[in-house]
Amino acid sequence: MTHSSDFQFDDLQGLLRFGHGRLRDSCFLLLNVADQAAAKQWLGGAPITRAIQTSPPPKTALQIAFSVAGLRALGLKESVIRDFSDEFISGMSGNESRSRRLGDVGANAPEYWEWGGNNQQVPHMLLLLYAEPGKIAAWRKKVETKLFVKAFQLLAQLPTQDIGDIEPFGFVDGISQPNIDWAAQQTLDSHQRDSFSNLLAVGEVVLGYRNEYKQYTVRPLIDPGSDPGAAELPPAEEQPELKDFARNGSYLVLRQLGQDVPGFWQFLDNVSGGDAAQREQLAASMVGRRRDGSPLLPPASAAIPGIAADDHLNRFNYLPDPGGTRCPIGAHVRRANPRTGDMPSVSGCFFSRLLKILGFGLKRYDEDLIASTRFHRLLRRGRAYGPLLTPEQAVKADAPVAERGLQFICLVANISRQFEFVQNAWVVNGKFAGLQQERDPLLAHRQPLNDGTPTDQFHRPDAAGPTQTVAHLPQFISVRGGAYFFMPGLSAIRYLAALPHQGDPSS
Ligand code: HEM
Repeated sequence: MTHSSDFQFDDLQGLLRFGHGRLRDSCFLLLNVADQAAAKQWLGGAPITRAIQTSPPPKTALQIAFSVAGLRALGLKESVIRDFSDEFISGMSGNESRSRRLGDVGANAPEYWEWGGNNQQVPHMLLLLYAEPGKIAAWRKKVETKLFVKAFQLLAQLPTQDIGDIEPFGFVDGISQPNIDWAAQQTLDSHQRDSFSNLLAVGEVVLGYRNEYKQYTVRPLIDPGSDPGAAELPPAEEQPELKDFARNGSYLVLRQLGQDVPGFWQFLDNVSGGDAAQREQLAASMVGRRRDGSPLLPPASAAIPGIAADDHLNRFNYLPDPGGTRCPIGAHVRRANPRTGDMPSVSGCFFSRLLKILGFGLKRYDEDLIASTRFHRLLRRGRAYGPLLTPEQAVKADAPVAERGLQFICLVANISRQFEFVQNAWVVNGKFAGLQQERDPLLAHRQPLNDGTPTDQFHRPDAAGPTQTVAHLPQFISVRGGAYFFMPGLSAIRYLAALPHQGDPSS
């Protein structure tokens, strides 16, 4: 058996293992390569934070990711680029079908984005800086050397703000994450993986390792015979004669999501007739957790792999609540991670299992509608922005309006199967797990279906009576920008830095 200490953390960027939560201040920069030679020289010596544990822990951190345009600007050959995933190569915006699937329509459409949208250049590079409170300016100054300033053009600094452990609506965030199985303790055999597990194969977030299908995700592998520079790269696990450009790298999805905090709380206050307790309950049922992060379900009686027995905020699944009377089926967290296993509600003898495998004996028609969640997990690394506004302040008619929101970041090995699937099938879709006419109450747009059926509703089943329906839900969140990036391993960054000079970086 492998131990997590056996894992080569020193080639991995730190963000894959740590959220840098202690480093409360952050600064996210969108950059273009202005001078290819200077950019490579800077990258060759960049103080990138690795995923190793140090004592004391670092006081600052730096992570780097590139868009496909950025890899091209550094001179990475097309023969290498073409083996990245289609989504990464074509990008988040600029494709109508993708925009529709992601819910980037109406006010969310890329033509209105502040960056990364249609007809706007996708930034070459994303630089993520983190520091202890009060130290971010000094850290940025240290990073932005003369060479850095020559190498890169600053396109934008994305807003970020430390408002504590909450997101701008006021809910504790960053509670539930997949537990990455660095030590490869868990079997990937689907016959032995019926129920929900929070342990996730490394290959679901890091390229070059086996994923939950026991496969290696397709990625650029380089023949060192045709490119001697590739000697620097680690060998591909499944084809050791080839070098693995993407090993220890991950796709980084960034979406700037504006949140209408006064709009959210004033709508809920209105619907609740000004009753603060009812308002809180409705908000909690839309999120799927209370504001303090506590779940709406009691702890599961049986252990859940990958969740500690004393992790009271996470030790639950939705099996005891099939009708959604405790946590509505449409609540944000239940959509984003329905906590299902490979079999719908596995229980009973061999014969009843066989019936379920064959698709017979379903009692409720929604039982078989949600795919197993282990193929659709996201490692979230977002940061909030905008000034803090409490719900009590936000309900007042004169609540100060300001730009607030989330720089949503997730790390995945497969953008389409993980981020795009969750966003499309579970968050934005008007049909989910037997629900109709509603999309994610927090996140989604409210456009009607093609046949005119409205989707601006939210249903709260009530164990004691009929389902309560909240109608005419406004859109609370709008997309302000976004792009797909690749966050390489350290050896791949050294490889990029050593590439021979090629072409014009601005092309
Ligand atoms: C401004 C936008 C968003 C807000 C305010 C928001 C808010 C929250 C909150 C309060 C939680 C519960 C705390 C936690 O478990 O960490 C949560 C969980 C989660 N959110 Fe979001 N979220 C946003 C965007 C997104 C997006 C775009 C996605 C993915 C497409 C997403 C996926 C998730 C997932 C996977 C969880 C964990 C669910 C679980 O494992 O139980 N969120 N979110």
